[in-house]
Amino acid sequence: MPGLGWGADYNPEQWPEHVWAEDVELMRRAGVNLVSVGIFSWAKIEVSKGEYRFGWLDRVLDLLHAGGIRVDLATATAAPPPWLTTAYPEMLPVRADGVRLSHGSRQAYCPSSPIYRDRATALAAEMASHYRDHPALAAWHVGNEYACHVKRCYCDTCAASFRDWLSSRYTLDQLNDAWSTAFWSQGYTDWSQILPPRVTPTFSNPGHVLDYDRFSDDAILELYKAERDVLKMITPDVPVTTNFMVNWTFGALDYWKWAREVDFVSNDHYTESQSPDRHVELAMSADLVRGLAGGEPWLLMEHSTSAVNWQPRNIAKLPGEMRRHSFQHIARGADGALFFQWRQSRGGGERYHSAMVPHAGTDTKVYREVCQVGAELGQLTGVAGSTVDAPVAILYDFQSGWALQQDAHPTQDFDYFKHVFGYYKALWESGVTVDFVAPGTNLSAYSMVVVPAFHAVSDAHAAVVADYVAGGGHVVVTYLSGVADEHLRIRLGGYPGAFRDVLGVWSEEFFPLRQGETVSLSDGSTVSLWTEHLHVRTADIVASYVDGPLPGVPAVTRNAFGNGVAWYVACDLDGSGLRRTVENALSGAGVPVSAQRIEHSGIELVRRKGDVSWLFAVNHTDTDAQIEASGVDVLSGAQVSGRLTVRAGDVVVLREEV
Ligand code: GAL
Repeated sequence: MPGLGWGADYNPEQWPEHVWAEDVELMRRAGVNLVSVGIFSWAKIEVSKGEYRFGWLDRVLDLLHAGGIRVDLATATAAPPPWLTTAYPEMLPVRADGVRLSHGSRQAYCPSSPIYRDRATALAAEMASHYRDHPALAAWHVGNEYACHVKRCYCDTCAASFRDWLSSRYTLDQLNDAWSTAFWSQGYTDWSQILPPRVTPTFSNPGHVLDYDRFSDDAILELYKAERDVLKMITPDVPVTTNFMVNWTFGALDYWKWAREVDFVSNDHYTESQSPDRHVELAMSADLVRGLAGGEPWLLMEHSTSAVNWQPRNIAKLPGEMRRHSFQHIARGADGALFFQWRQSRGGGERYHSAMVPHAGTDTKVYREVCQVGAELGQLTGVAGSTVDAPVAILYDFQSGWALQQDAHPTQDFDYFKHVFGYYKALWESGVTVDFVAPGTNLSAYSMVVVPAFHAVSDAHAAVVADYVAGGGHVVVTYLSGVADEHLRIRLGGYPGAFRDVLGVWSEEFFPLRQGETVSLSDGSTVSLWTEHLHVRTADIVASYVDGPLPGVPAVTRNAFGNGVAWYVACDLDGSGLRRTVENALSGAGVPVSAQRIEHSGIELVRRKGDVSWLFAVNHTDTDAQIEASGVDVLSGAQVSGRLTVRAGDVVVLREEV
């Protein structure tokens, strides 16, 4: 793409052909230059086994090309057609309780099914051979939001693949040890005894469940790779992606692994429409996606122009909100922002989901705003390819998230994504741009690293954190970190096992709080959800409990370790306490917060840097606000010298003078 992408999933099969020409005309008016086509078109393309009908899709791609619109072409494998699942019902996924799911919606396949894999790769090969030379073809879009609905399948085919997966990693003795099968008489004496963690009388084995999560993630990734490899053979130069789901719904895939397998990272993001913090969560997701992309530009494959259809209450976006959301993604490294979908469906399960062209047509808030942003992005072509620098990182571990979702933990109130979000929000309010990094990443580029609930930790990954601190780094480690090894066996000798030395503390017992219970700290903060009986060895006490079950016990500590500093937050701090702690840690690490505090200015500021520096300023409040900045306001053409006013709800992009 020469500039920034703007467009949507385009599903012309939902409409009579006479609408298509109007679609392209309206797309041109809206500045659309990229659409994803064919994601759910399997039934229209392969009408029975091996019988392919490309005529209608040829006409769609030709029309789009004539309109100057590029195509992210799907392999169309996201929703197997009824003729296929009827012929091969064994390809349908099975739930943990043994119920086999039926067709009638989408994603109705078992990830280990050889039949699904054969038919999907055959279709991908047909698509690639047929469209290899089509001038509209910009990229391949494989599948759609893998594991969005079917996170795990528990069928017999998966059971057999799981055993193969296990036996390539463990001997039976090693497996019994890793899974602690001595507990509850679970010792396995033959591979054939091992099943997927189906519904059992009570708590499943934690190591078993976590390995099944890993196995399932790998099995789904293999499906993607099988299609990708077919595409690469036929069209080696066409980039391949699949759309991730990095957001508050927290997924079933370890995207650090997936990100290595795509040519460019793409993500779908839908805000939690009832949340007052939805724009902050959006920022976190975008930063995490940039981390997955290794800092390179990425593509927002889907977001919504207004309401979605799948939340308890699907709140419409207010005027300007979609624009701010689109610019937030671009500011945080996206080289394009696309929607689900182009034209709001007339029928089907998502007919109440917003689109670029609503049911009511083009004389609408949504279409007008779509045209406005499309035109504005057209003025920002120079932004494409630029990157974002961040002084602080958050270590993000999908697998700890899975582990902490399991049952039989000290509290059921803990939520990994929300926990990380609390720290992200504190940093966002402080105006500090954040990268996300994978476990094991060399951290030396960062002034400070937050390590939230890094729960299932290998010795090697723990050592990376300790080495970073010893070498002069600053970390903030939070409760539930370091407690278990990668098989969820507790590290003995006091929590937080893997990080005891670097933090200079040990904890003898967890004291999670009752629902609604709060405890006060000596620094004035309030704590809910979690406390623990902590002792310091070499650490200084920053704050202690003044009431609750552990009066006088340390709650927040700070330890000098090697050339660096390691904070431990052993409790769940409220928003202002968390921000105070994070800002203290930032100032100790030499990261300035005062100049850009969003909390005071109301303006989210992010810089993208390439040949020049682009300052994105997004005002999320309903009052005008001012910041210090100089350069050219690209959207208005105005020269800004020293003082920039960003109107209530507005976005400004400044080409900075440096
Ligand atoms: C995504 C999906 C789209 C559409 C959208 C609705 O999860 O990829 O096909 O369903 O959600 O929000």
